[in-house]
Amino acid sequence: MTNAANTPGADETALATSAADDAVDAAAAALAQGLKDDAKHAGARVGLTSDEIIIHGGRPLTGRIEVRGAKNLATKAMVAALLGKTPSVLRNVPNISDVRVVAGLLALHGVLITRGTDDEWRLDPSNVEVAHKADIDAHAGSSRIPILFCGPLLHRLGEAFIPDLGGCRIGDRPIDFHLDALRQFGAVIEKLPSGISLTAPNGLRGAAIELPYPSVGATEQVLLTAVLAEGETELRNAAIEPEIVDLICILQKMGAIISMEPNRVIFIEGVKELRGYDHRAIFDRNEAASWAAAALATKGDIYVGGAEQEEMMTFLNVFRKVGGDFDVREDGIRFWHPGGTLKPVTIETDVHPGFMTDWQQPLVVALTQAQGTSTIHETVYENRFGFTDALVQMGADIVVHPSGLADENRRVKRREFEQAAVITGPSSLHGADVEVPDLRGGFSHLIAALTAEGTSRVSNIGIISRGYENFIEKLRLLGADFIYES
Ligand code: EPU
Repeated sequence: MTNAANTPGADETALATSAADDAVDAAAAALAQGLKDDAKHAGARVGLTSDEIIIHGGRPLTGRIEVRGAKNLATKAMVAALLGKTPSVLRNVPNISDVRVVAGLLALHGVLITRGTDDEWRLDPSNVEVAHKADIDAHAGSSRIPILFCGPLLHRLGEAFIPDLGGCRIGDRPIDFHLDALRQFGAVIEKLPSGISLTAPNGLRGAAIELPYPSVGATEQVLLTAVLAEGETELRNAAIEPEIVDLICILQKMGAIISMEPNRVIFIEGVKELRGYDHRAIFDRNEAASWAAAALATKGDIYVGGAEQEEMMTFLNVFRKVGGDFDVREDGIRFWHPGGTLKPVTIETDVHPGFMTDWQQPLVVALTQAQGTSTIHETVYENRFGFTDALVQMGADIVVHPSGLADENRRVKRREFEQAAVITGPSSLHGADVEVPDLRGGFSHLIAALTAEGTSRVSNIGIISRGYENFIEKLRLLGADFIYES
């Protein structure tokens, strides 16, 4: 039986529905504005003056470009410099916005940064000091790297304040593994409205830590904390991405004792002090894979200087299966579309040595040109197909399954929140006005606009500058037809 007094009438229901719709619209508008602001700030850090590019598509990209150090190593290597008693030198540093964010945070903490040649940075941590919370706060929301300052700052200063984190909106991106590990080392953590505050009243001691998932960031957190912690640390279920191995090489150069064992186990023996390092950052395999995907989608031919085979093996296999060709040379890899029909593939993204989640977004554009149905199971992040809306707007046939899809032949264990995208091609893409939603998705938008017939306006391109160095100049070098008003 219904209680008439408690049952909303038709007018009330309509009002409630419209209020809910208004709230959804307001949230969407706030999100769009937030992205625009992020894009503007990110672009400004590397000198981008306009936040949109107009692309006339349909022309193959051909020529040679260079990739430099990996965003996902260089930014962490810069944080590692905090641990040394003497200055560090990092070479092959890319001119990207995320590097600028980390440089800003380091400078706030008293690290003196000087640049030698264009891509060589000297980081002097002799005068590390506590930064003002308000200044750190100004960096809130700009990147995920600040979380990695915890261990080094606790070692150097006995306290740390970490602002709310930014980074791409591709899922919840919690930091529970980081905080649990830090607590195991002895950190005391207080959550504040604007971030987290940490102290280590009894110092930091080695610990036995098992990650629930081989998280890249949490593995780095443990490494950067364990090297100067008292005693031994055993890390189980660690991430073993090439960028992590490169970080371990850096820490070893600094005087750390770290051994990598089979089955994702890493042992670290804490030492009393570390010195600075001199290191050339590993190349950016995500950028290399993105340009390779651009060559395939636009029927082009791109020589990616600086790319190396070993770190890209899994990508290269898929690139070949789709119908692309490549040639590994002394100083780079040439990627091209050899003509003929591209073939569909089924991919499950995974931690290394699996197919990286960062590679799927650019590759999806090439798969819209393949003959048949491809499926991508995204098992790392719970929301990494948002970028496909724009591709559909451009004429692609992509259906996203938010709760994933069953597949009997899969190799990667199904994760609770995974998604799948089914791409059926080939589709003739046409130009459209699109807004970049995240870093890799944004690069996919560029590739789609370059592949499409007609004109596209791609806005929020500052977000792309977070991880792609000089991408406008590189498009020019590859013969793209576009207007960018600086
Ligand atoms: N996770 C948790 N709790 C944590 C940490 C991670 O649940 O405390 C989950 C994440 O939500 C995600 C999974 O673990 O589902 C993997 O996340 P991971 O920690 O490995 O990612 P990350 O360290 O935040 C880095 C790269 C990403 C790259 C991933 C995977 C940096 C700055 N970012 O992120 O790069 O996709 O590893 O390789 O190194 C990019 O470059 O565009 C990018 C997003």
